[in-house]
Amino acid sequence: MTRSSASWVTPARMASLLMIPFLPAQASVGDVGLLPTPPMGFNNWARFECDLNETLFTDTAQSMVSRGLLDAGYNRLNLDDCWMQTERSANGSLQWNTTLFPHGIPWLANYAREHGFHLGIYEDAGNATCGGYPGSLNHEQQDADTFASWGIDYLKLDGCNIYAENGQPLRDEYKDLYTQWHKILSGMSQPLIFSESAPAYFCTNETDWMRVMDWIPENGELARHSDDVLVYSGEGSAWESIMTNYDYQVQVARYQQPGYYNDPDFLIPDHPGLTDDEKKSHFALWASFGAPLIISAYIPDLPEEVITFLKNKDFIDVDQDPLAQQAALVTRDANFDVLTRSLANGDRLLTVLNRGKKTSKTTIPISQLGLDSSCKYRARNLWTGAVETIKESVEITLDTHATIAYRITPPRGCTKTTPTGMIFNTASSRCLTASSDKVTFSTCDAKNSQVWSVLGSGSKFTLSPLSDSSKCLSASKDGSASLVSCKGGSGTSWSHFMTGHLKSASGDCLADSNGASLETCDQSVAGQIMGLPSGVKLASGLF
Ligand SMILES: *[C@@H]1O[C@H](CO)[C@@H](O)[C@H](O)[C@H]1NC(C)=O
Ligand SMILES: *[C@@H]1O[C@H](CO)[C@@H](O)[C@H](O)[C@H]1NC(C)=O
Ligand SMILES: *[C@@H]1O[C@H](CO)[C@@H](O)[C@H](O)[C@H]1NC(C)=O
Ligand SMILES: *[C@@H]1O[C@H](CO)[C@@H](O)[C@H](O)[C@H]1NC(C)=O
Ligand SMILES: *[C@@H]1O[C@H](CO)[C@@H](O)[C@H](O)[C@H]1NC(C)=O
Repeated sequence: MTRSSASWVTPARMASLLMIPFLPAQASVGDVGLLPTPPMGFNNWARFECDLNETLFTDTAQSMVSRGLLDAGYNRLNLDDCWMQTERSANGSLQWNTTLFPHGIPWLANYAREHGFHLGIYEDAGNATCGGYPGSLNHEQQDADTFASWGIDYLKLDGCNIYAENGQPLRDEYKDLYTQWHKILSGMSQPLIFSESAPAYFCTNETDWMRVMDWIPENGELARHSDDVLVYSGEGSAWESIMTNYDYQVQVARYQQPGYYNDPDFLIPDHPGLTDDEKKSHFALWASFGAPLIISAYIPDLPEEVITFLKNKDFIDVDQDPLAQQAALVTRDANFDVLTRSLANGDRLLTVLNRGKKTSKTTIPISQLGLDSSCKYRARNLWTGAVETIKESVEITLDTHATIAYRITPPRGCTKTTPTGMIFNTASSRCLTASSDKVTFSTCDAKNSQVWSVLGSGSKFTLSPLSDSSKCLSASKDGSASLVSCKGGSGTSWSHFMTGHLKSASGDCLADSNGASLETCDQSVAGQIMGLPSGVKLASGLF
């Protein structure tokens, strides 16, 4: 669980944060070795909510072993909310519910280990969990020590029931608590993996959300940035819920790097509201993102076809690729989203989703993927394993809500790829569009005038639309963005920052306003936050 109806009123909160001794912060992106690739495993929440117990976990573990999921890489068993008793013990330690866990959590951790798994647990940084059980506020070190002593190496830390003190912005309260937790968890003799829920509490306000995201990768290994995926018994559309988190995920691609992964929440492959194509799309998209693959389903009862696609080695290899690039949008139109990313061995991924209501066809020029149109590439269909040769373009026909992915291998002499794709304002989802000597932000239409090549190898680069490769995006002296000859000098040099700002050499930021303008860079202006193709090297600092 992450989000619930927390009421954000001002509470009294103690000053204990100030008394935490300094510990070196070294996990996450500072210590890639703690979680070099995204986690894979099981969590009870979306399927069972509070109805968890020891048997569910042992049965699930046995099934994951016998059905080959463990061997495929799913090696984590994560407890979610409601595992504990409503009161702490006399010495203040957390206690498990002995009815639900008759042998105890340390026993379960040992059981997990003996079967090849790691056990993860859930707590909340506030004064109560979302389900109303004791929160960790003021018990941070004690609870971390308790989890470690139980044999747990992964903590999902929620953010229900956090309240701001003395009128401090709520997001700063979250930052203080999560930074404190990072210091504790990364300072343990065996550091715990830290799954942060903080961003999820801010995703309805673009600028607040991004300002939370800015400190997230330094403070943990993965982060739930958006809504809980629809639970099994929930009302509403499971597919829309998946697409909601997908739409948040594409906005935060730039934050992902080895050691830190954006988490769009659980896979729900037995949700009764999903079609077979939707279940497979969910998996294929999450793997394309390099997202955590945490299954929330009753695994012993999953049909064999579902187990088979969850074990698809080609997709899992993409998910676990050590480069950890997140696939980013190349184009979007009324039906199709096209995404690409690079893989560690120099291959390029092409993932295509049909979001439309009917079967449709599309043609994707390979130049849109940053590949050389004069070369022939080998493309492996990740669903079927079939290999075909592609040149110039790829033709794809997809049923409604289906996803296809190809792993594209360049021949010798054609190994250079260019970060290429949409530049879009994450708040409006409008695309930067080239037209003769002008640029505007407009509805995405998948034309070459909306596909940008990022040229240059460092964190300063030029941006050229595929529709006219002699032209580059320029910051004009009159405060507007325009297209000029790529020989136009420093006005065509840009940098992208973790905050999302796309800054010109003269120090102004591109904004989705009045067509496309240049403004004084400002973190509180949502129109300045841009998504770029994957593989762009970010400039250091906050714009
Ligand atoms: C948590 O803090 C809030 C605000 O001070 C308070 O209203 C609430 O009762 C507290 N909850 C618990 C479980 O202590
Ligand atoms: C454990 O939980 C599962 C899933 O909610 C439930 O079906 C089962 O009856 C429970 N078992 C026990 C022993 O409580
Ligand atoms: C433990 O869980 C059982 C079954 O859900 C519940 O009836 C009981 O109240 C819980 N005990 C505590 C101490 O929370
Ligand atoms: C605190 O109490 C719990 C349960 O009573 C016990 O298991 C634990 O060892 C105690 N912790 C310390 C540090 O004494
Ligand atoms: C987002 O939050 C900030 C304060 O943190 C506020 O100034 C701004 O108005 C909010 N934006 C919207 C669209 O509500």
